[in-house]
Amino acid sequence: MTEPILKLEQATIRFGGLVAVNEVSFSVAKGRLFGLIGPNGAGKTTCFNLITGVYAPTSGQILFQGRSLGGTKPHRIAHAGIARTFQNIRLFGALSAVENVMLGAFLRHRSSLAGALAFMPSNIKESAELRERSLHLLEVLGLADFANHRSRDLPYGKQRRLEIARAMATQPTMLLLDEPAAGMNPQESVDLQDTVRRIRDEFDMTVLLIEHDMKFVMNLCEEIVVLDHGEVIAHGGPSDIRSNPKVIEAYLGEAV
Ligand SMILES: Nc1ncnc2c1ncn2[C@@H]1O[C@H](COP(=O)(O)OP(=O)(O)OP(=O)(O)O)[C@@H](O)[C@H]1O
Ligand SMILES: [Mg+2]
Repeated sequence: MTEPILKLEQATIRFGGLVAVNEVSFSVAKGRLFGLIGPNGAGKTTCFNLITGVYAPTSGQILFQGRSLGGTKPHRIAHAGIARTFQNIRLFGALSAVENVMLGAFLRHRSSLAGALAFMPSNIKESAELRERSLHLLEVLGLADFANHRSRDLPYGKQRRLEIARAMATQPTMLLLDEPAAGMNPQESVDLQDTVRRIRDEFDMTVLLIEHDMKFVMNLCEEIVVLDHGEVIAHGGPSDIRSNPKVIEAYLGEAV
């Protein structure tokens, strides 16, 4: 088996009396399409916040490419190669799609927007190259025709795709997607599965994603961890997860 690119070892975080993530351990192999699922409040987004350095674990540790991320600041983790999207879209609404992607690349180097703006190159050639790369990412995400549209004017599904393009602008090796298909209609969700697969294949990416759309997860993910009340209750391939009685009881119900 290949070395895991990401490893959680009994990662735990408490918020006051609440243990939001409780001794969670799992490894993600390089190149995997990996799903993190579970009911509302299970601790999924908090896991992303731990991995990306928004919070430091109360105990346990997280290793990326064999190195502990303990106490590492979010922009350093981004620099190390982990990029994410957010459950609630965070775009610069007044900027165009391509400008949002370009800014994503600068945010890799700076922890704040002000810092990113200050870092904008005065060198026209450099920024032209960046624009080209950003346009290519928009094309990969199926947004080539919308490059100059103001991002707030894009339909919701396209905004979610734009978030992925922006995350990829940092040239990550690992992409964390928090509910990428939320609010999409069934066709958009199927199309997004193809896009995420293409991103994995063409960019040699490892993808860890949170999603409540079970068709999306079961069709796309090769390996799945299920959280409930901050704890791992199951880990396996889609068919194991679908038929796991604990998962059915805690989350899926009888319908899936
Ligand atoms: N900064 C925080 N302070 C206090 N409690 C928090 C904080 N962040 C998360 N929590 C709590 O931790 C628990 C897990 O939240 P989290 O957002 O990780 O759930 P989730 O699995 O992503 O759920 P959903 O599917 O609804 O997005 C919830 O009870 C939440 O209220
Ligand atoms: Mg969440």
